[in-house]
Amino acid sequence: MVLKICCIGAGYVGGPTCSVIALKCPDIKVVVTDKSESRIQAWNSDRLPVYEPGLDEVVKQCRGRNLFFTTDVDTAIKEADLIFISVNTPTKTFGFGKGRAADLRYIEAAGRRIAEVAKSSKIVVEKSTVPVRAAESINNILKANTKPGVSFQVLSNPEFLAEGSAINDLLHPDRILIGGEQTEEGREAVQKLCCIYKHWIPEEKILTMNTWSSELTKLAANAFLAQRISAINSISAICEATGADITEVAHGIGTDSRIGPKFLTASVGFGGSCFQKDVLNIVYLSECLNLPAVAAFWHQVIEMNNFQRTRFARRITEKLFNTVAGKNIAVFGFAFKKDTGDTRESPAIYICKHLLEEGANLHVYDPKVPEQQIRIDLTYSEGIEDCFKVDQQVTVCTDPYSAAVNTHAIVLCTEWDEFLGLDYKKIYDSMFKPAFLFDGRKMLSIENLQKIGFHVETIGVKTSRIQNRNVADA
Ligand code: UDX
Ligand code: ADP
Repeated sequence: MVLKICCIGAGYVGGPTCSVIALKCPDIKVVVTDKSESRIQAWNSDRLPVYEPGLDEVVKQCRGRNLFFTTDVDTAIKEADLIFISVNTPTKTFGFGKGRAADLRYIEAAGRRIAEVAKSSKIVVEKSTVPVRAAESINNILKANTKPGVSFQVLSNPEFLAEGSAINDLLHPDRILIGGEQTEEGREAVQKLCCIYKHWIPEEKILTMNTWSSELTKLAANAFLAQRISAINSISAICEATGADITEVAHGIGTDSRIGPKFLTASVGFGGSCFQKDVLNIVYLSECLNLPAVAAFWHQVIEMNNFQRTRFARRITEKLFNTVAGKNIAVFGFAFKKDTGDTRESPAIYICKHLLEEGANLHVYDPKVPEQQIRIDLTYSEGIEDCFKVDQQVTVCTDPYSAAVNTHAIVLCTEWDEFLGLDYKKIYDSMFKPAFLFDGRKMLSIENLQKIGFHVETIGVKTSRIQNRNVADA
């Protein structure tokens, strides 16, 4: 029986996942560790380092009871029966496999730490999204450093939570995946992990399989989701060039029960820490396996996403009379989607950089992303400073109304609910004319905005069609 769990890495995955395990398993002590002092301090404070609806309540209920946050990784490893590894696995920005392969240095460091300090046998569970065969690497590190009387079982238990709905996803997952070695010890370890999830998840939703299947399923699931967005975004480009409306087309497609309605919202492109990274993992894996056609197939999903972001940014410049130099533009939303403060791979970063390069001044507003993060994201790309001047060209605002004052255009990048309820008449009155609104999330009513006087551009709808519709309305 597992009575003590340690988690290495208190980020977007480790923090919420372990908080929910602590909530649902009061008989288990859960210790979440991180090498970052400030992150642990934040987990122990009233301002958690991760914004996630419902997370505060769960942490408040369990912290100090059976949920603990500490930087003392070694003690937590020694005490634990089971260790989750949920450290970050970014895409490599250097060396062989640069821009494609996952950087596994944090996973390896965690594995080495476990091997070094463990004095009793442990189940080690990889939770981070990792390339196929990472479990084998962890296994090799552990086996090569094992002390007498100590043994390890490595399991793959990928996390499927989406940011912004993490607590709900953890409480009511579609399925739990557990991969393990096909040996007696392996099966026993799998069963022990199953017992933890059975505290709140029906048995039929817990799928067990071999380790590689589990690792590949995670990558493939994210790749399928990403390609769905790229597919609908490719159709949005055709809509903008013809007279079709992407919302109508998506509805028409999604009502086919074989296709289904979810994940068909055309947008300014997908972001987040997983989709691009995992698709690139598959591309790299395919290249290594000498399957160039498979690699090219999946790489096109990324190409389509890059195209969508660039297309939108170019459309802004084009509509603003082919120049944004010296113009003020309000940016509504900077996170990669609503209900999170996470900006990793956020399309807003790419759109903003494009506009800054063209000489625009940006007034950025996001309800959850701190100013410092916005400045970091816009200043650096892979450690190289860009040519524009973030200090001079970017103002970070604390509300959308002040962000819009004296601007030529609003560019909506994140679908925060609060953008639905704004007083757009008041906003329009405070802007330069003609006032433009570029809706990268297709969330606002074109008709209402046009009645106020805005010139509206939205994803997946041809401009002339929008204007005609307005004339017909009037
Ligand atoms: C994703 C997976 O959903 C999750 O299962 C996995 O564990 C981690 O990666 P996440 O990145 O948190 O989760 O968010 P998700 O809701 O999947 O959105 C990813 C991106 O796609 C966002 O930028 C979102 O705005 C965009 N998106 C999503 C669209 O553009 N259109 C859609 O229809 C859906
Ligand atoms: P994810 O979205 O995968 O959860 P994050 O970057 O949010 O990724 O979180 C990963 C966390 O793991 C970070 O807070 C980082 O400090 C922590 N971490 C990385 N390596 C180690 C390690 N060897 N020991 C402890 N914590 C680590």
